[in-house]
Amino acid sequence: MTDQTSNVTEVKAESRIFPPPAPFAASATISGMDAYYALCKQAEDDYEGFWANLARENLHWHKPFTKTLDESTAPLYKWFEDGLLNVSYNCLDVNLQKGHGDKVAVIFEADGGEVTKVTYKELHHKVCQFANGLKSLGVGKGDRVVIYMPMSVEGVVAMQACARIGATHSVVFGGFSAKSLQERIVDVGAVAVITADEQVRGGKHLPLKAIVDEALALGDCEKVRNVVIYKRTGGAINVLEGRDIWMHDLVANQSDVCEPEWVSAEHPLFILYTSGSTGKPKGVQHSSGGYLLWAILTMKWTFDIKPADVFWCTADIGWVTGHTYITYGPLAVGATEIVFEGVPTFPNAGRFWNMIEKHKATIFYTAPTAIRSLIKAADADANVHPSKYDLSSLRLLGSVGEPINPEAWMWYYNNIGRGNCPIVDTFWQTETGGHMMTPLPGATPLVPGSCTLPLPGIMAAIVDETGHDLPNGQGGILVVKRPWPSMIRTIWGDEERFKKSYFPEEFGGKVYLAGDGAIRNKDTGYFTITGRIDDVLNVSGHRMGTMEIESALVANPLVAEAAVVGKPDDTTGEAICAFVVLKRSRPTGDEAKQIATELRNWVAKEIGPIAKPKEIRFGDNLPKTRSGKIMRRLLRVLAKGETITQDISTLENPAILEQLKQPL
Ligand code: PRX
Repeated sequence: MTDQTSNVTEVKAESRIFPPPAPFAASATISGMDAYYALCKQAEDDYEGFWANLARENLHWHKPFTKTLDESTAPLYKWFEDGLLNVSYNCLDVNLQKGHGDKVAVIFEADGGEVTKVTYKELHHKVCQFANGLKSLGVGKGDRVVIYMPMSVEGVVAMQACARIGATHSVVFGGFSAKSLQERIVDVGAVAVITADEQVRGGKHLPLKAIVDEALALGDCEKVRNVVIYKRTGGAINVLEGRDIWMHDLVANQSDVCEPEWVSAEHPLFILYTSGSTGKPKGVQHSSGGYLLWAILTMKWTFDIKPADVFWCTADIGWVTGHTYITYGPLAVGATEIVFEGVPTFPNAGRFWNMIEKHKATIFYTAPTAIRSLIKAADADANVHPSKYDLSSLRLLGSVGEPINPEAWMWYYNNIGRGNCPIVDTFWQTETGGHMMTPLPGATPLVPGSCTLPLPGIMAAIVDETGHDLPNGQGGILVVKRPWPSMIRTIWGDEERFKKSYFPEEFGGKVYLAGDGAIRNKDTGYFTITGRIDDVLNVSGHRMGTMEIESALVANPLVAEAAVVGKPDDTTGEAICAFVVLKRSRPTGDEAKQIATELRNWVAKEIGPIAKPKEIRFGDNLPKTRSGKIMRRLLRVLAKGETITQDISTLENPAILEQLKQPL
């Protein structure tokens, strides 16, 4: 834990309260606060019984489980372990059995605007054929498959096909570099990579297959036997005989029947890499049964999903939001969902509003960064202002990935929801598998900027550094006191790191440490997230470890030392600011600018464009204590452009602060 730790005693008072609209509450799955409290009480009175009933009611079990929760190996908790099921069966076959075969599962809109609709029957067909194709390559239960694909029906199919045959997928976001991709391929031990020739975003073509080739050429990827390529654009690529195969060739003669592989509820459905405060990104391992259960329940509780809804989550399948609220949750509840290939600003910043109007979306779930940038765009150009579009189909809005500032919340509420749509500000993490704290749209009175209360069954609390509960009104460390079904199971290949990161001994080894600070309102008990308490940044809702960026910088031959901190940013929430010491003398003027550009591009190549520092400053040294520790809290103040008022008596080289004060 860093010196950012949460001695917050108040957050700016927010007195606006928005009760759920009466018509919404009347038909909601959880209608009114009494219904919410009743569910919470059920969980408190009989924790295992609560989850067992929900798991029986909401999942199709090939073989029922007999034990709900096994705590004997805590914190390696096991849920419904002796039950057998298949996630893809639950998402597809179950819907066919219910007679929803002809219902549209996916409305896909390509970057250029072309629309393709896929019914549940068609999706089932595609998944089974592709699953059989993977089997023909020898991929099977227990194998790991890396997916590096654009937003596409085929991306969803690839993930579902892995689930169908019991292979564990690891999706790598298409914006990561060859090096990041290679590190993940190696760490997870992938036997196959599924990719596309190119990805198209904002009218630009990006060469995914070429990046896969580059990643595999970096070495240590001998386990990869095949690369499967989805033809998205027909752009020129190298096809390596014997290793590479086109997706359309692979499925050409495959049967559309594929008996699912029945797996234990604990079987790893996927591994998704995310950043921590130290070391390389960690492979967060999720289960099959508990994970899917929570995906389904949160679709019902948080999103109040109904058969006629058109659900749109704008996340990428490369992030956990895309896993839970694109590939699995919406399909498992038989919803119609929109999958979008492009970006919110192409061909113009009215794209989201245009798509809501065109497809009559009823539930819209996006990130505060997108909202903030679209506010700016709407202010600058009346033609892309949401008032120009018919958004009357909307009934519910959602926010995810980072704190939503009250101003952005109000704009979203008034301009997109037209004052009629509740906003669910969902707090959760890659590790939690699904929502943890969020308003319930038919029950919870909303307060801008607060994720309000934990979902039923989620025992969230705020504690001090010694693990003791803090009273409302006092900021502290966010923890979850009991295991829950969709929680992270382990860090792939590193159980020790899993225990240390999430269940530290200081708190008794059985309490989940979220890594965020939080505070509860004195009167309402509502939670507000006050930010990470470790060295993790949140840039545009993307999670980045400062250490990762520092390592990338020091790998450059010019760089001797680097320290990275976050600074508040109007659009991206946080921005990356790097303080760099070169091996040569400190550059100034144009030369400094030129080297900064070089280093920013270097980081893009090492990690991916999302990790590019927004700002780089050069110094002869970094502010250090006498024992040589970099004083990051001072760098954070400098990055913000504020004056240092803290005690600097332990600082070895105070003069350096003056040098680092000025942006280039
Ligand atoms: O700091 C919290 C922030 O995002 C972190 C999790 O990032 P990631 O694992 O990439 O998952 C993002 C999508 C679920 C959290 O530790 N965060 C996420 N949602 C919110 C949030 N901060 C404030 N409010 C939220 N609603």
